[in-house]
Amino acid sequence: MFRAMILYDTQAAASNGASGPPAMAASAIAVWSAGSASGTVAASLATARMTDSPTAVPSSPPGGAVRPVPGCQFASDNTSGVCPEAWQALAAANAGCTPSYGNDPWTARACDLVRELFECPAEVFFVFNGTAANSLATAAMCQSYHAMLCHELAHVETDECGAPEFFSNGTKLLPLPGERAKLTPAGIDHAVGRRRDIHSPKPRVVSVTQATELSTVYSLDELAAIRDTCRRHSLRLHMDGARFANAVAALGVPPRRLTWEAGVDVLCLGGTKNGIGIGDAVVFFDKALADEFAYRCKQAGQLASKMRCLTAAWVGLLEGGVWLENARRANAAAARLESGMRAVPGVEVIGTRAANAVFARLAEPVAAGLRHRGWVFYDFIGSGGCRFMCSWATTDGDVDALLADLRAEAVSAAGGEQRRDQHDADCDRRPQFHSAPGHGPAVE
Ligand SMILES: Cc1ncc(COP(=O)(O)O)c(C=O)c1O
Repeated sequence: MFRAMILYDTQAAASNGASGPPAMAASAIAVWSAGSASGTVAASLATARMTDSPTAVPSSPPGGAVRPVPGCQFASDNTSGVCPEAWQALAAANAGCTPSYGNDPWTARACDLVRELFECPAEVFFVFNGTAANSLATAAMCQSYHAMLCHELAHVETDECGAPEFFSNGTKLLPLPGERAKLTPAGIDHAVGRRRDIHSPKPRVVSVTQATELSTVYSLDELAAIRDTCRRHSLRLHMDGARFANAVAALGVPPRRLTWEAGVDVLCLGGTKNGIGIGDAVVFFDKALADEFAYRCKQAGQLASKMRCLTAAWVGLLEGGVWLENARRANAAAARLESGMRAVPGVEVIGTRAANAVFARLAEPVAAGLRHRGWVFYDFIGSGGCRFMCSWATTDGDVDALLADLRAEAVSAAGGEQRRDQHDADCDRRPQFHSAPGHGPAVE
């Protein structure tokens, strides 16, 4: 299922005076190969001569030792491993042989569990990641001349490298503003009403992210208002649910109420961030939209040959409500972090967190100090501040360790400030000598 693509950099080889592959500089790129033995993705990307991926897998450490990197865990909920229940299910599915390409009992069970979860007969597809899920779902709803309305901070707009446009052959994303990363009926009305002529792409879909990129959630009322707006304009409703479980945990309502009952036509359901190793699901509540979707998955290299290795983990995640427990744990860790941060002088918690990420404004020396201590977090996501993301694996101890370092850095930065203030005050008390403009400073 997993395939490495080795690209020999001929330029580097030439500059080294090398003549054959063994002496060449090679860059290995790991790709998910979901196709036949030839590997659809690996083959397609290699044919496209993708020779300089900035995310090529780095070299392994000397001696081959591989250790966890504890400080990176607040960078993303993708830094965590596979939760024990999903891991056990994978181990169980590893026994013996089963039919491939999804014709196996694990995949059937995973589909049934998704339908049970949403209490409806949805069409379910399993893909390797959220970008593929969102992009293929967009493609299933849109023609090339359509537009999909989304928030300007939406992952589909900012972090999918144009994949929704690519897989839909050119559907235009129309990014809209909105408080706390949320779309509003008024914003949608305005975007739809702005142009209705043939020269502008035709709005076809509204995409909401639940939980949002700023760790907020759409309430049931907000979703109902968006549903009504979509119906008024004959728009489809797509939900990017990379953190759907966190939204359910935050709102405490059954999944159906946030999806098909709220007018959602298709949900991209996050598995990776929720505790499995790899995979998100595309859940069509409007089954007509799923027509020929399997072909899209295959063409995009998203049909796993050993499908059970993807879907068994879903079984582990969905059985017994593990998904919800994982999400609750992540949200609770974020709540603990948030309240701890509020008590640290000089740290400003921003936004109205409901899910598993905390955003905070830190003074530059404090952020630098934390990074120096080994903590990794992003400051380019959303609309300002540093993002600290918690996952199913984040423990109280992890949160407290970060808070202890944050407090220490805040105290040290405040001390530095005080020393600087004292220094400035001392300078002010000294006799002042003023030089004439254009002359150097007076020398005492
Ligand atoms: C809101 C949102 N949607 C989708 C994704 C899925 O992205 P990926 O393709 O990396 O799985 C992410 C991951 O960061 C996300 O935050």
